[in-house]
Amino acid sequence: MKTGRFITFEGIDGAGKSTHIGWYVEQLQRRGIDALRSREPGGTALAERLRSLLLDEPMSLDTELMLVFAARADHLERLIRPALAAGRWVVCDRFTDSTWAYQGGGRSGPSDRIAWLEQWVHGELQPDRTYLFDLPEAIAAQRRASGHAGDRFEREDEAFFSRVRRSYLARAAEAPARFRVIDSSQPLENTRLLLEEDIATICR
Ligand code: TYD
Repeated sequence: MKTGRFITFEGIDGAGKSTHIGWYVEQLQRRGIDALRSREPGGTALAERLRSLLLDEPMSLDTELMLVFAARADHLERLIRPALAAGRWVVCDRFTDSTWAYQGGGRSGPSDRIAWLEQWVHGELQPDRTYLFDLPEAIAAQRRASGHAGDRFEREDEAFFSRVRRSYLARAAEAPARFRVIDSSQPLENTRLLLEEDIATICR
């Protein structure tokens, strides 16, 4: 049973989703909505420990895939499902679309196993809205270069991010009712206007 709303933010590293998520949660709260912000991998004490391993420790694709879903199972059980059941809105920085894009697209992982793990861990629960912050991979690479040193994923080459971006766009095209694709190369104010309009739509 789900009564709150589940909103996710997605995009390749450097696309700017993290710039908007805090602001987005504030907009919901200003409307009187009990919204909380979380992230993946992470969101609970255990999942945050798995996040450190995922971002820093070299591992096989199978291990990566199962760790991502192990972290997600804990996050769902201890945070996302209870919050939604209590009528709260959960705004999450990345969710299973990241797995499809990074492990499935970027690393060319097996889609049947991803689909199976997704079905197992949260077959009944999908985000109500997903914002995909889209940006040409060359611009995202420049943005990443001007930031911090970079984790295991951020150090991947442009071809990797090009595959990640392509799978994101393919997923968005498959589920147009759930996704809003946002051109992340436009000025920040334009993006915020789009997000504000969409919040009004969701709240209606
Ligand atoms: P990110 O969300 O970009 O955090 P930060 O802004 O602090 O760098 O980093 C998380 C990384 O984890 C990102 O590079 C994508 C990766 N990831 C996957 O590969 N699969 C997944 O299922 C998830 C949730 C994340």
